[in-house]
Amino acid sequence: MSLMTIEQVDKFYPQKTGSPVQILHNISFTINEGEVLGVVGESGSGKSTLGKILTKIEPYQHGSIHFKGQSIDTLSKKELKNFRRQVQMIFQDPDSSLNPRMKVHDIILEGVRGFGIQVGDKDAFVRERLNEVGLSSQFKDRYPSELSGGQKQRVGIARALAVEPEFLVADEPISALDVSVQAQVLNLIRKLQREKELTYLFIGHDLNVVRYISDRIIVMYNGSILEIAESEELFSNPGHPYTKRLMNSSPVQHPKDRCISEVSEDRPDYGAVKSYQQISDSHLVAVH
Ligand SMILES: Nc1ncnc2c1ncn2[C@@H]1O[C@H](COP(=O)(O)OP(=O)(O)OP(=O)(O)O)[C@@H](O)[C@H]1O
Ligand SMILES: [Mg+2]
Repeated sequence: MSLMTIEQVDKFYPQKTGSPVQILHNISFTINEGEVLGVVGESGSGKSTLGKILTKIEPYQHGSIHFKGQSIDTLSKKELKNFRRQVQMIFQDPDSSLNPRMKVHDIILEGVRGFGIQVGDKDAFVRERLNEVGLSSQFKDRYPSELSGGQKQRVGIARALAVEPEFLVADEPISALDVSVQAQVLNLIRKLQREKELTYLFIGHDLNVVRYISDRIIVMYNGSILEIAESEELFSNPGHPYTKRLMNSSPVQHPKDRCISEVSEDRPDYGAVKSYQQISDSHLVAVH
């Protein structure tokens, strides 16, 4: 069953001067209930923009998006509130996504309070949410500045899960973390997905990380989808030269290092995507 259907979506960002610049080009895909759909692509390819559109943080210009069969553009006030609860986002940078003036206890209850969700004993609820993400209850009285990067990201995950969402957009949730804790947080994200039967859009720039967690993978470049396939199929039978290129390039470990490698790397020009070739049932490759 499809949870979200994205059809021919274009996204433009306004410029300070001149005409708006197109960031996403004719994006179409579906997200199936309970799957982890990975999105991989280099910096600037439009991954975060796509995540923001699906969570209604950013508007889009052409095409349509349906969540559970309903257009996300025509939701009533009540439906929109429901959508905002069901669709949550985990951000790349835990530093800027947690309110520095709030204690962990209140951060975790933020959404619960906002949506008016009854949780019974609040202390017990917070304790359970913390335990679920591998933190002891003593963290509840801490401020974000008193947490490590990995702990902050665990709190961000706990906050998102506290409102019992169905669909999570995880935008490079481990990229900003120390390499030593990346695997732990990634495993936590995967474990929670399985336990709670959640649906994920998992955004990353490291194809191996995305492969590890995803059932299917979308490869993006310059705001277009170049390939979609089931993870194992993508690796055993990559159809687009850019996918092959991604597989052969060594991952850049930290976002801060990325711009350095991008400057020195040549960026191939494949031209606009004219159509898609269907290699098998669920395997599409862009034709230029
Ligand atoms: N608010 C904005 N206004 C104008 N342009 C924007 C805005 N946000 C992003 N962009 C541009 O859109 C393009 C895609 O950005 P986006 O953040 O989606 O890329 P990304 O694939 O997530 O990159 P990264 O891997 O670095 O996070 C970039 O060229 C970026 O400069
Ligand atoms: Mg991004």
